[in-house]
Amino acid sequence: MKRLSKLGLVLILGFVLLLSACGTSETGSKDSGKSGGDEKKTLRLVTDAAYSPMEYMDGDKILGFDIDFARAVAEEAGYELKIDHVGWEPLFVEIDGKNADLAISSITITDERKQTYDFSVPYYLSTNEILVPEGSEIKSGADLKDKVVAVQIDTTGHEIAASILGENHKDIRPFETTPIAIQELLSNGADAVIADKPVVDEYVKNNAEQKLIIITDDSFEQEFYGLLFPKGSKLVEEFNEAINTLFENGKYVEIYKKWFGEEPDIDALKA
Ligand code: ARG
Repeated sequence: MKRLSKLGLVLILGFVLLLSACGTSETGSKDSGKSGGDEKKTLRLVTDAAYSPMEYMDGDKILGFDIDFARAVAEEAGYELKIDHVGWEPLFVEIDGKNADLAISSITITDERKQTYDFSVPYYLSTNEILVPEGSEIKSGADLKDKVVAVQIDTTGHEIAASILGENHKDIRPFETTPIAIQELLSNGADAVIADKPVVDEYVKNNAEQKLIIITDDSFEQEFYGLLFPKGSKLVEEFNEAINTLFENGKYVEIYKKWFGEEPDIDALKA
């Protein structure tokens, strides 16, 4: 009996030693010069996962181009990510209150947002599009003037609607999410939706039976997405470096092709 437990103890000790040896060699190679601890630091990332194919829920999993991209960037910078779907307006509150370290959510880099937040370098080039039912008389942004326009609240699409119809116009219908805005269009509560190109394109492709068409308007500006950080965050520089590495080492191209089936124009992001 005594002998047995001694043997057990030796075995356990040996196992523990083995484990810790493995642990050291693994972190030793990964932890290239970063100070403090062997463990990778976990950052909290918040998103609005109702923007397929950029970020969306699949059961209880959060997937999308942005999510793959954010994970790759974090890994390159030496961090682990804990990703929470909190919603669009809440994500800004979380970042503002420093309850999250960063956000990704197809967030357009704008001068107004830059006053309150810090952004990474651009990682995706987009623009807004107009979604209307087949046969609609809307052919351009200007045609929205006397129409009811559904948007996701406080998005650049909302801003465009406000610039065409006038600030606080009663015919602008702001919703918490883009899918709800599209639902409003489908139930004839609105004549059009304004939202980001990758999301509108994917929606129309996947829902052909709903007979919606896309109107593009060349006067809608190009928009660049960035990672969002609390103002003054020390992470910005590290993440910018990591993003540039992914641009160069093929990882960005790989993720982009996986989601969009074509080559990205990385030079356009650097312009
Ligand atoms: N790009 C637009 C903006 O920054 C819309 C982004 C909405 N993103 C989302 N995940 N719902 O205002």
